[in-house]
Amino acid sequence: MKGIILSGGYGTRLLPLTKVTSKQLLPVYDKPMIMYPLEILLKAGIKDILIIVAPDHAGDYLKLLGSGKQYGARFAYEIQDKPEGLAHAFIIGENFIDSNNVAMILGDNIFEDDMSETIRNFRSGGHIFAKKVPDPERFGVVKFDENMNAVKIEEKPKEYLSDYAITGLYLYDNRVVEAAKQAKPSARGELEITELHNWYLAKGELKVDIVKGEWIDAGTFETLYKATQLARKKSGLMKS
Ligand code: DAU
Repeated sequence: MKGIILSGGYGTRLLPLTKVTSKQLLPVYDKPMIMYPLEILLKAGIKDILIIVAPDHAGDYLKLLGSGKQYGARFAYEIQDKPEGLAHAFIIGENFIDSNNVAMILGDNIFEDDMSETIRNFRSGGHIFAKKVPDPERFGVVKFDENMNAVKIEEKPKEYLSDYAITGLYLYDNRVVEAAKQAKPSARGELEITELHNWYLAKGELKVDIVKGEWIDAGTFETLYKATQLARKKSGLMKS
């Protein structure tokens, strides 16, 4: 399985912090944000990782992470000239993915859970992860039936759909590249990842698990602060 960390975008919600650096390089307790999603992929035994970055700070990523050798892995880098959507990553990564399955994680997503077994056990279809949140309208949202099977997925639904946000870790088989190429830009001009979930859902090949521990999308001042607290807790310095 190959890995992708999507770490582009402008980080405008964190201005002025992001005026001189990339959001995913900001400190979260004792290391830059991107190192948390990177650890998830490395822990799952993924050795080939593509890091997709915005043009402005590409050199800083290379300086921080290098070739990957020190982690026993190989890192490749691609530049996304402008944020054309999460699904766009699979088009940028087409050659890198080649004929493999792929785990993509967002560079600003921090998970408390150890996801390595699930990632290692992935074989085919799509496998995504949801978490109950108080503000689902900020995210991709999944609705379940009474047996907790996913029945509907929408990106930032205007009408209430459910409390379950879709987190930023996505396991897909090789067909995701084709699915991404078929996707049409949304009203906000992006290739939406929810289109890819729906592509697998329509085929009855999408698995949705619930994340048990904390999950943080560290893209706002409040959630960046929470991410720092979680990282401090995980490091063992704080009991709760
Ligand atoms: O965090 C989980 C959510 O991420 C999901 O629930 C949503 O379904 C998904 O669309 C996404 O929603 P966001 O509104 O949080 O997406 P955002 O535009 O903030 O982008 C997420 C991260 O990906 C962010 O760190 C920047 C990066 N990104 C985003 C886009 C659109 C890129 O690197 N390139 C892009 O083209």
